[in-house]
Amino acid sequence: MDKYVVHHADSLSGSVSVSGSKNAALPILAAVLLTQEPCTITNLPPLSDVKSMLCLLQEAGLAYQYDETKETLQTNGWKCNFDLSQSQAAGKLRASFLVAGALLGTCKEAVLPMPGGCPIGSRPIDLHLKGFRKLGAKVDVSGGIVTLRAKELKGTAIYLDFPSVGATENILLAAVSAKGKTVLENAAAEPEIVDLVRFLRKMGAHISGEGTATITIEGKSALCGAVHQIMPDRIEAGTLLIAGAITGGDILIKGASVEDLGPVIAKLRECNVKIEEAAEGIHLTRKGRLRPVDLKTMPHPGFPTDLQAPFMSLLAVAKGTSVVTETVFENRFLHVGELRRMGADIRIDSRSAVVEGVEEMKGAKVEATDLRAGAALMLAALAAKGDTEIGDLGHIRRGYDHLEEKLCQLGAKIEKTEE
Ligand code: EPZ
Repeated sequence: MDKYVVHHADSLSGSVSVSGSKNAALPILAAVLLTQEPCTITNLPPLSDVKSMLCLLQEAGLAYQYDETKETLQTNGWKCNFDLSQSQAAGKLRASFLVAGALLGTCKEAVLPMPGGCPIGSRPIDLHLKGFRKLGAKVDVSGGIVTLRAKELKGTAIYLDFPSVGATENILLAAVSAKGKTVLENAAAEPEIVDLVRFLRKMGAHISGEGTATITIEGKSALCGAVHQIMPDRIEAGTLLIAGAITGGDILIKGASVEDLGPVIAKLRECNVKIEEAAEGIHLTRKGRLRPVDLKTMPHPGFPTDLQAPFMSLLAVAKGTSVVTETVFENRFLHVGELRRMGADIRIDSRSAVVEGVEEMKGAKVEATDLRAGAALMLAALAAKGDTEIGDLGHIRRGYDHLEEKLCQLGAKIEKTEE
């Protein structure tokens, strides 16, 4: 298993560009199944999650070329294969279930493995299935396989009990092909959903309200091909900003958008970090001592759950007491045990973690337990005294495009070793 060895870094500096967003790319890749016409997707990062989704689309019958160096996908039509029950790719990637809505929309049928849970939670799909049933689909779940069939899909009113990102995306992908109007209430408002709707609108879909809690979709019988550039990855941008803050640096994150990172920037400023909007992106400097803050993860526009772990690394060295509350996932404190091995003083109390900032963390041998926990350990390792060995890098590579190279571009010293 390969590992990173991360050395202590004093004040990162310089500039680095953000890659395309994993969480915008995955639903947009599912959306290409809504048309027989060619689509061109650019700024599509070569992440392992993106490659898994492309394998799944190939199994669904899509013809495409993906140029990794140009980060460009060109699709060339597809023969609908809606039965993906035996798909290897679907088993590897939870987000593969996002093709259910698109297959239901175009083939009126979809057969997929039940998406698995993951370290951070059970990740149910009850809200996805509720939306499909409301649109007129027959839903069967047995033996770990989800079978969806519909004579036709009819627009309707759908209320989401929780503003689920995936359920909002899946229902959108089905409703664009339904007969009549669908009104989705208590929808998720994440920027990645706004990017998906930008792509669907270029394909000819009639959608309004994206980025708010109520999205209205006028169904259309056929959608056309489109050209789309994936939005910048706000979670990667936030991770890189925290790297600058934790080392007391002076960095420019090019391509990052302030609008998409409102709550994260607000919390960084509360921690005594200086953030300015620059022409090319976001400029961060931190000279004085970090201050402790309380934070609570919430659906957008609240503090994003995907930056809870990276931000906790920062609070672990902010003198004073911070309380971090995770309200979105039921098991997203797996990084706490690993941070403790580096000397962090963190106590879990149900959905909250009480963080007592320490003077200094120490390098240690730690394991990435999930994608964002892995990133949190890299950030903590930059601030820690000595060297830190981080194992199980597959998690990090799933969702970050060469994070170690980007941190080295800012002055970090990170080596990859094979065990
Ligand atoms: C998306 O996951 C993201 N993944 C996650 O990013 C992100 O953390 C999450 O949204 C929240 O912002 C992608 O976009 C590929 P949810 P998703 O449905 O869609 C419950 C990362 O690190 N729920 O909004 O699975 C669920 O259990 C990943 O990049 C139901 O109860 O998130 C969870 O507690 C991690 N029933 C909460 O909603 C359902 O049918 C949020 O889940 C669906 C969800």
